[in-house]
Amino acid sequence: MWIADQWKDYEVIDTSNGEKLERWGSYILLRPDPQVIWNTPRKAKEWKRLNGHYHRSSKGGGEWEFFDLPKEWQVQYRDLTFRLKPFSFKHTGLFPEQAVNWDWCRERIVSAKKENPNREIKVLNLFAYTGGATISAAAAGAKVTHVDASKGMVTWAKENAAASHLENAPIRYLVDDCVKFVEREIRRGNTYDGIIMDPPSYGRGPKGEIWKIEDSVFSFMQLAAQLLSEDALFYLINSYTTGLQPAVLSYMLSTVLKTRHGGSAEAEEIGLPVRESGLVLPCGASGRWSR
Ligand SMILES: C[S@@+](CC[C@H](N)C(=O)[O-])C[C@H]1O[C@@H](n2cnc3c(N)ncnc32)[C@H](O)[C@@H]1O
Repeated sequence: MWIADQWKDYEVIDTSNGEKLERWGSYILLRPDPQVIWNTPRKAKEWKRLNGHYHRSSKGGGEWEFFDLPKEWQVQYRDLTFRLKPFSFKHTGLFPEQAVNWDWCRERIVSAKKENPNREIKVLNLFAYTGGATISAAAAGAKVTHVDASKGMVTWAKENAAASHLENAPIRYLVDDCVKFVEREIRRGNTYDGIIMDPPSYGRGPKGEIWKIEDSVFSFMQLAAQLLSEDALFYLINSYTTGLQPAVLSYMLSTVLKTRHGGSAEAEEIGLPVRESGLVLPCGASGRWSR
């Protein structure tokens, strides 16, 4: 399992009965988590010191209840700064477990730069959300193309870049449907040295284009792989969908990439350490190909 255990400003304090108790900087949030099917005693003092609680509704969705929580605040991961704002659904604007993937991509970029300091490394981040992977790759010295269907998310990613002093970094932001964007890039003959994708289980492009992961992901992986440069460094896919287990991801990555590019593919569940139990909360799976 790949575990995001390098956080200082974030921790999962405890988990019980469908909810996870987290610390984001100095604020405590309680949010639903479908993985938490256990009902363990709630002993940590923070259970009684909540700053925000997202209540599930039986009709689906839910709503936030706030107790002395600013509208916006920041957390730090290594040299990166993220702005947090609890918003629609249970989101805060960051998936902290992804830090383990940010680090992996960053290592690939840094070691390629060490080998050849003049090499320009182009990274494509698809379904890029608030830009965690984007700013991490940019901080490592890559030229990044950030694509997301939501204008609001792209604006937020720019804010995160600015908060991390990367406002002048070579990042290209696009509000676009990922499938349409990749098709256009293939026609233009553009290539990338690293591709990162974190597709949602279900989503819509800016013109209502429907994305359903099980139906779309394999053909999309094949399509995006056409954008890899001859000496590409990495290809990373992440999924929260329970149907896409690690072995499914590594099978697809191997099929799509190894014939043309060689290299190796591996996949694992990803997770976050839980302070109170000393155990790990599973948060989906990632597949990684590297040369
Ligand atoms: C699960 S989040 C990605 C998480 C992000 N990679 C991270 O680590 O923080 C999914 C994102 O995909 C975007 N999205 C959904 N369907 C899309 C589509 N067809 N084209 C582009 N973006 C899409 C959503 O706007 C959302 O920001």
